[in-house]
Amino acid sequence: MTLRVSMFLSSLAITQWVMAQASFVTDDRVAVFYPAQYDASLHQPSPIFEREPAAINPLPSDWQVRPKFSEHDGKTVATINIEEGTDLYGTGEVTGPLRRNGRTVGLWNIDTPAYGVDNGTHLYQSHPWVMGVRKDGSAFGIIADNTWKQSIKTADREVTFESEGPAFRVVVIERNDPKELMQALVDLTGTMELPPLWSLGYQQCRFSYHPDTRVKEIADTLRYHKIPTDVIWMDIHYMDSYKIFTFHPQEFPNPKELNDYLHQKNLKAVYMIDPGVKVEPGYFVDDQGTAGDFWVKDKDGKPFVGNVWPGPCHFPDFTRPEVRTWWATLYKDYMATGIDGVWNDMNEPSVFGGPDGTMPVDNWHKGGDGVAAGPHARFHNVFGLNMVRASRQGLLLANPQKRPFILSRSNFLGGHRYAATWTGDNLSSVEQMKLSVPMTLTLGLSGQPFNGPDIGGFCESATGDLVAQWTAMGVFFPFVRNHTIDGSVNQEPWAFTPEVLNACRTAIERRYILMPYIYTAFREASVDGMPVMRPLFMADAKDLSLRGEDQAFLLGGDLMITPRWAENVAQPNGGTWQIVDLSTLNSKLSTPKSDKYQAELRQRPGSVIPVANLAQSTTEMTTDSLTLFVCLDAEAKAQGQLYEDEGDGFSYREGNYALSTLKASLDKKILTVSVCQTEGTMSKPERSLRIAYVKNGKVQYSAWQKGNQASMKVKK
Ligand code: GLC
Repeated sequence: MTLRVSMFLSSLAITQWVMAQASFVTDDRVAVFYPAQYDASLHQPSPIFEREPAAINPLPSDWQVRPKFSEHDGKTVATINIEEGTDLYGTGEVTGPLRRNGRTVGLWNIDTPAYGVDNGTHLYQSHPWVMGVRKDGSAFGIIADNTWKQSIKTADREVTFESEGPAFRVVVIERNDPKELMQALVDLTGTMELPPLWSLGYQQCRFSYHPDTRVKEIADTLRYHKIPTDVIWMDIHYMDSYKIFTFHPQEFPNPKELNDYLHQKNLKAVYMIDPGVKVEPGYFVDDQGTAGDFWVKDKDGKPFVGNVWPGPCHFPDFTRPEVRTWWATLYKDYMATGIDGVWNDMNEPSVFGGPDGTMPVDNWHKGGDGVAAGPHARFHNVFGLNMVRASRQGLLLANPQKRPFILSRSNFLGGHRYAATWTGDNLSSVEQMKLSVPMTLTLGLSGQPFNGPDIGGFCESATGDLVAQWTAMGVFFPFVRNHTIDGSVNQEPWAFTPEVLNACRTAIERRYILMPYIYTAFREASVDGMPVMRPLFMADAKDLSLRGEDQAFLLGGDLMITPRWAENVAQPNGGTWQIVDLSTLNSKLSTPKSDKYQAELRQRPGSVIPVANLAQSTTEMTTDSLTLFVCLDAEAKAQGQLYEDEGDGFSYREGNYALSTLKASLDKKILTVSVCQTEGTMSKPERSLRIAYVKNGKVQYSAWQKGNQASMKVKK
């Protein structure tokens, strides 16, 4: 097996430039380029695409973005010339600036604890995807449909994918602007399915809360301090000797009772499952996997054994459909204890002491369902993707009526179909906190809308000041979880000073009152592929001054978030984005009017943002009473959207949801806002509405009014 790969690679000795041997364009401006030596059996079916781009027409002669293929020094290369002045984005999970021109990124998923600014170009997941935005605002996307080890180089006039694997095809998408490009990407890769509403709430984690009484104490303290929260996380210590799908007999003797306790407090429980299965005859997971011959093999055809937390482990060969089906069955009894979501970690896979901290490249995977057997070199980068694919199958099998929630550390372009992600083992430092903005934005532009960092930082100990700063900004990220390493100081909001506790609570309350708007942004991501958290240039792709902005960002399309520490941020044109002061909203908010941590929120002129009353969890949240923040445009008009459904389950697919247009206009000093349901059969009870008219940094409120329309007389 090793021989086959190395013979193949050594045959690629001389540089030889070739234009694509075959290329075509689909009817919607997606072009596919094949190199002369392309062997589909070494790449397809592609894990990236939900559907194969259909061959329609020959490539038109004026098609601009074209790869040239070459082979040299045992590498296969695709080089794409790009127009001068093009800003490049994407390239997946990376540290560094949002604008990616002049970077090199390694695509080989590895466990990279305490990564910093410099080595953050080679992390836990891979996205062979570059997005280009030309001076005129038009956009293109380049996908190297290749799972083998490769790198992406982004020079100003040229993008290069250089791979250690066989020749690969390249897909290019042309669109009028970045928004259309994101839609086109999900047309190919599939959309993220709507996550359960609870997974959008605040989440509290550490490595690890144990025993179960400590978990209950955390739950009680969160509620005592009135910190709105939806989830508590169980890291590896809940297991018996780190054996997956087991519970520690003394520390977690009755997981059902623990989960019931959390549920009574409107909290959900997410538990960790790693891919390494402890080698131990008599342990049911190891016995079943061995009986089924389900393990990844070494180069001699024996089950590969590598060390992870439990010591020597076997690894399921997730490329095989029958292994995924078996893995899925393991979740049934496990989830029946009341577990709500699953955390798949260490799935690069991490192997302690292995080459690059993972498996040897000549390990062997069997494939199936049209995927040919092949070496780990081919399947390494999709180990995590295939694992979460199997886990998703398992969660659906266990709870067919619930939306699965899976968080994965490793993944690949296209893997957003199966799991959300976080950015692994970052550091508790101010520098990393600042970096988490472009990192989260870049993952969003790389097709993964549901992502975020460990808030407060994972490695080393955080200070209270850092936790307050990071929480104040992080509550506007798609995924919001405070997490830290074993042995660090406690990192919960109350672990420091009353000032830090208040700042964290205020920030988290801001997320919860914005939840109807945030959920609507997630729904948009699940339909149009638009990232939940977006770079400012998405507000106006033609405005070159926004292209490099990576301190301030957008949440959805209408809210600009400027972290307190940000300096000299760019401002979008098209009228002044008005400051929104949420602290005026509700006398019950514990929110001090301002503190030194809270981010500045500005609303887009011409928008309506729906906001809920404060709740302590998404379970308690209702949209029966809504405050509609209105920021008018130059024509004295504004418009927004509101998406509502049951927050879990799949009845929305049959139309059980309500999508409403929120319309505002000012006429003779009377501001009127209406909520008009345009889609879906879910009927909403009569609501109470209130207008919050935003102008010059002030908010004027109307009285609460029943019905689907509210109006008020505005002051000058
Ligand atoms: C890995 C994860 C981290 C987790 C730890 C223990 O380092 O990235 O989040 O806490 O393993 O399971």
